[in-house]
Amino acid sequence: MGATGETDGLETFYAEALAAIGKAATSEELERLRVLYAGRKSELARIMGTLASMTPEEKRTFGARANRIKADIESTLTARAAALSQTQATAGPAIDITLPATPEAPGHRHPLDIVAAKALEVFKKLGFKYLEGPEIESDERNFTALNIEPAHPARDMHDTLYIKDQPNLLLRTHTTPLQTYLMRAVEPPYRVVTYGKVFRCEAVDATHLPVFHQIDAFFVDHKASMADLKSTLETWAAELFGAKTKIRFRPSYFPFTEPSCEVEVACFLCHGQGCPTCKRSGWIELLGAGLIHPNVLEHNGQDPKKWKGFAFGMGVERVAMTLWGIPDIRLFYENDLDFLEQFNA
Ligand code: DAH
Repeated sequence: MGATGETDGLETFYAEALAAIGKAATSEELERLRVLYAGRKSELARIMGTLASMTPEEKRTFGARANRIKADIESTLTARAAALSQTQATAGPAIDITLPATPEAPGHRHPLDIVAAKALEVFKKLGFKYLEGPEIESDERNFTALNIEPAHPARDMHDTLYIKDQPNLLLRTHTTPLQTYLMRAVEPPYRVVTYGKVFRCEAVDATHLPVFHQIDAFFVDHKASMADLKSTLETWAAELFGAKTKIRFRPSYFPFTEPSCEVEVACFLCHGQGCPTCKRSGWIELLGAGLIHPNVLEHNGQDPKKWKGFAFGMGVERVAMTLWGIPDIRLFYENDLDFLEQFNA
């Protein structure tokens, strides 16, 4: 083939190379085109090789054209590479927005938080205001101000954790001392509900932990009776456990209430028939309650002739265990996702 034939081939090759390089969409594709159009085994290299057998005249014109085309292809490749690296840098990695999303595993509320919020919500509806207090408490507020004198045997019921080298300070054993804050600060009437951690020096087992949560509530007004207490707790239990829930009141003893009672709920597993969960009694003890002892009002600056009150306190873990039939209190704190995810409210 003479120089004329090669010239046609060269121009076709040139046009084809420029079009392909201009369309290259990735640097990998561009690299492939570099090998194809400018590499050592390319058509261009073959054409350059034929120069040797051409006449000096042909060499001059054809060779000059071939060299310009070679240079042009090379600079087009370089320009295209620069353009591609620019767009790839700004576009970032390719994202296919049509792919289905990987499901998220969002966190959710802890079962104790769910049950406490539910329980508190009912009291809020009944007009109780929410109050929180310190976890480190004075011996005086935790005991003496609640009619538990230093030598009172009831102190033995609360296995107390005292603060080291501070015999008058302790980790509160119940949330009942919140009563003393309000009574010392403002005159009744009040309806208050409290919630928080309490601490006892207990060995850990299926029903005991050294830290647990209590909800305590108290009502003080010119009149307050066991009937008021009973209707409040019946309303609360019906809202929390369901309208058909049966509760019963049994006489009991707490130093800060007189009379005192324990409130039990019909066992959710056996509905009062008796089973291992309710220790065959058919009932589960849920909370302590009573009419506020006149000594408590008096000790905290309120006149017991003028004011009467009722109060009650419950363990939140116990309420949650009863509500959901949970057999072991430790489950709340082991962070086992298979357990926790059953309460995805
Ligand atoms: N504070 C008691 C406890 O920790 C529970 C309790 C009983 C609270 C009677 C009260 C109440 O407010 O009136 O075991």
